[in-house]
Amino acid sequence: MTATLLAKIWEQLGVAATSRSPFNFLQLATSGLDGAPQLRTIVLRRCDAGRGTLSFVTDMRSPKIREIRSDPRVALVGFDPAASVQLRLSGEAVISDDEAARLEMWQSLRERTLILFDAPHAPGTVLDDNGQPLQAGEPSDEEAYARFALVTVTLNRLEWLDVSSEHHVRYAFDRDGATWRGARLAP
Ligand SMILES: Cc1cc2nc3c(=O)[nH]c(=O)nc-3n(C[C@H](O)[C@H](O)[C@H](O)COP(=O)(O)O)c2cc1C
Repeated sequence: MTATLLAKIWEQLGVAATSRSPFNFLQLATSGLDGAPQLRTIVLRRCDAGRGTLSFVTDMRSPKIREIRSDPRVALVGFDPAASVQLRLSGEAVISDDEAARLEMWQSLRERTLILFDAPHAPGTVLDDNGQPLQAGEPSDEEAYARFALVTVTLNRLEWLDVSSEHHVRYAFDRDGATWRGARLAP
């Protein structure tokens, strides 16, 4: 059962990385610089089942980048409402310095995503009602591409919780070198 379920999880993550499906949007948790939890939605952009990694893109200037640099441990959660399944993941995030991988991802993004990196203000900058920044600071003269971050999370644990029936079913998979050790857990 565990091998079949593990394959199913990776298959669903693979589908989610390439199309609108329940786990296409995941909630990403980091530790804030003050230690408080920080949580936000991200779009899953890539899944590599062989390496056990997931990738997303973000703005290099966003707080989550500083948080990941300070503490790379992250958690992710997704929920498929039609199947009543929660997928809970954890691992270590790396901000990619692989130029080929960055460029490949950049070139795969649609115009409406690329345009986000044109924004002159760092995410979270306070704006007035007209969209102008209230905070002091020069708009960045960096190119949009320089603001583009590809973040890859090497997962070390995956958890599947199915609450579709009266008897909830929960499994966990922990990384064990190149393989995964699965176990059924009390829900
Ligand atoms: C549907 C949806 C998808 C999003 N996808 C991303 C994403 O892929 N990358 C990203 O950096 N922010 C994404 N955001 C915005 C983040 O949730 C967050 O507000 C923003 O990145 C600032 O986060 P931070 O201040 O924690 O760095 C998305 C928001 C929504 C509502």
